Amino acid sequence: MPDDPALAATDARKAAFSRRSVLAGVAAVPLVAAVPVGSPTLQEAAGRAGMLFGAAMRANVIASDAALRTAVARECGVITPELELKWAWIEPQQGRFVFRDADRIAAFASTTGKTMHGHALLWHQSIPPWVAQVLADRPDWTIMRRFMAAVMPRYAATVRTWDVVNEPMEMGHRMDGLRPSPFLQAFGPDYIHRALDEARQAAPRATLFINEYGLSHDLPWQRDKRYLLLKLLEGLKRAGAPVDGVGIQAHLELVDQSSFRERVLADFLDELGNLGLQVRISELDVKEADLTATVPVRDRRVADAVGAYLDVALDNRAVGSVTCWGLTDRYSWLDEGRNVGNRGLPLDRDFVPKPVYDAIRRAFERRLVND
Ligand code: XIL
Repeated sequence: MPDDPALAATDARKAAFSRRSVLAGVAAVPLVAAVPVGSPTLQEAAGRAGMLFGAAMRANVIASDAALRTAVARECGVITPELELKWAWIEPQQGRFVFRDADRIAAFASTTGKTMHGHALLWHQSIPPWVAQVLADRPDWTIMRRFMAAVMPRYAATVRTWDVVNEPMEMGHRMDGLRPSPFLQAFGPDYIHRALDEARQAAPRATLFINEYGLSHDLPWQRDKRYLLLKLLEGLKRAGAPVDGVGIQAHLELVDQSSFRERVLADFLDELGNLGLQVRISELDVKEADLTATVPVRDRRVADAVGAYLDVALDNRAVGSVTCWGLTDRYSWLDEGRNVGNRGLPLDRDFVPKPVYDAIRRAFERRLVND
C-alpha cells in the first residue's frame, strides 16, 4: 500500500471501478457503486493536487433541491452563481440593487465551507435596459463605478476571484478583435483597463479575471482569438492594468472534437503562464453532437473529450481550478436550447456519477502524481 493517502485512495478506487468496466459499455447503474465510501470527491481530488473544483449553480435550484445541495456540498470547493451576480440581475433599475439571490448562494457557500466565484461584472449579454440606454445616450462611467462598488465589497468574505469582463472578444469586427459591445462603443477599447482598475479599487484583495470562450480548438476563428487575446493581455500588462488571470470557458462541443490539438492548447496555456497570469477552466461542459447513440457510447465520448482536455490543461501549473457549468444534467444550460437530454456534466439527472466524473477526478490525480 502506498503511504500517501491520496494514492491509497486512488488504488482503492481503481479496484472498485476498473476503467475497463466503463469501456466495456456498462450502463450507469454500476457507476453508483463506483464511488465507494471514502473515495475522493472531485473537490478532494482537486485539493490534493493543490487545485479547486467547482460548479455553477442557481439560487432557486439550491433552494428547491436537497439532493443538489448534498451533491454540491460534497463535490465542490467553489460555487459560481450562474446568473445572480450579473448586472441585469443585480441592478435591474438604476440604483435599485437586488442582492437577495446572490446572498442566498453566498450564504450556502459559507455554511458549507466554500468560496464563491464572482461571475461576471461586465457582459454584453447581461446589461439591464437602463444601462443600455445610458451607454447609448450619454456614456457615464459613474454607473460602472457604482455597480462595482456596490457588488464587490458586499461579497468580499466569500468571493476571492472575479470575472471583471466576460467575453470581450469577437472576431470579424475590428483589427484588435474586441467585441463592439455597448461598453466598447461607449468608452472605447480602454474600457477594459478602466474596469480592471475600478474592480481593483472595489475589491483590493480579489484576483481579477478576463473570461472568454472559443479558445481551445484549432479552428481559424479560435486561432485568431487566441492571438488577439494574448495581444490584449500583453498590452494590459504593459500598461499596468490589474489583470491577474484568464478564465477559459471550455464549453466543449463534440462536433469540434476533430480540431482539438493538444499542442495548440498547451502552447496557449504556456503563453498565458509566461505573462504571469493565472488560469481558471471556468465553464467546462460538453455539448454532444449525436444524442441518438447509446448512453454508454455518448458518456464515453463526453468523458474522452474532457479527459483529453484536462490532461493538457492540468499539465500547466498556471491552471489552478476547474469549474463545470453545472454539476448534474438535471440542471444544465445546454438544455435551454435544442440540446435537451444532453449528458455533458459530471452527474446524471439522478446524481449518479458518469464516466466524465471519473475523467475529471483522474485528471486531478494525474496532476498529483506528476508533481
Ligand atoms: C448562461 C446561463 O447558464 C444561462 O442560464 C443564461 O440563460 C445565459 O447565461 N458563458 C457565460 C455564462 O459566461 O455566463 C453563460 O451562462 C454561458 C456562456
